Amino acid sequence: MSVHHHTKNITLKRLQAMKSQAEKIACLTAYDASFAALLDDAGVDVVLVGDSLGMVIQGRESTVSVTMDDMIYHSQCVSSAIRHAFIIADMPFMTYTSVEQALDNATDLIQLGGVQMVKLEASIRQVSIVKELSECGVAVCAHLGLRPQYIHKLGGDSLQGNDEKSSEDLLRSAEHLQTAGADMLLLECIPDTLARRITDNSSIPVIGIGAGSDCDGQILVLQDVLGITPGMTPKFAKNFLADTHDIRSAIVAYVDAVKSSSFPLKS
Ligand code: KIV
Repeated sequence: MSVHHHTKNITLKRLQAMKSQAEKIACLTAYDASFAALLDDAGVDVVLVGDSLGMVIQGRESTVSVTMDDMIYHSQCVSSAIRHAFIIADMPFMTYTSVEQALDNATDLIQLGGVQMVKLEASIRQVSIVKELSECGVAVCAHLGLRPQYIHKLGGDSLQGNDEKSSEDLLRSAEHLQTAGADMLLLECIPDTLARRITDNSSIPVIGIGAGSDCDGQILVLQDVLGITPGMTPKFAKNFLADTHDIRSAIVAYVDAVKSSSFPLKS
């Protein structure tokens, strides 16, 4: 097991180069300075301040109660401790319903939170918002497939894109969002074959969670990797602490597993 010491800061350009060179991108969530520093040191390439903090930090049932103030606070905690990794923050539920609102809130995440990229749950409807953010100089990650902020609208978490129409919709959304200026895609809970098609069709890095092993990188929620998630753990998650003796080794094992394509297992 090796520690992947970063030699320099991870930029979007570096992530792009990793995609071109087929070097897997290891991503994890963090919400505070202690874990952020540990992840950074263990060689995690991308740290996401996810709105999953609604569940794992605040003990709520979903992400929809998370506010901009929560995101700014946790982004500050994380960004103050990171020296190398690329930092992304989620835009919470209903904070990017119009171009103006999205611009204002992205500005706060970047200027006050200290993050480098914002992530929003996207479909065709968000294309104009992504375009405007991008043209104003904001790096954007479009989160497609299972979109947890739609929980009350769609009811429950399940595999997305598993019929002809929804998989064509996802492919088309991914294309349009990339054309609009998205710099990264995140695919959650979609069939492996569809994730592979989207990854092959995209020139930007594609990160997967529950989307098979062929994306350019992988992400998990930190608490799932440590086996301390309150309540249900998703099927695709893996407890890396179970086979190691401390938290640092568990994170290094996760990074190693992503880099060597041994996580997730090929189906
Ligand atoms: O909020 C979050 O942590 C996420 C990841 C699960 C991808 O969006």
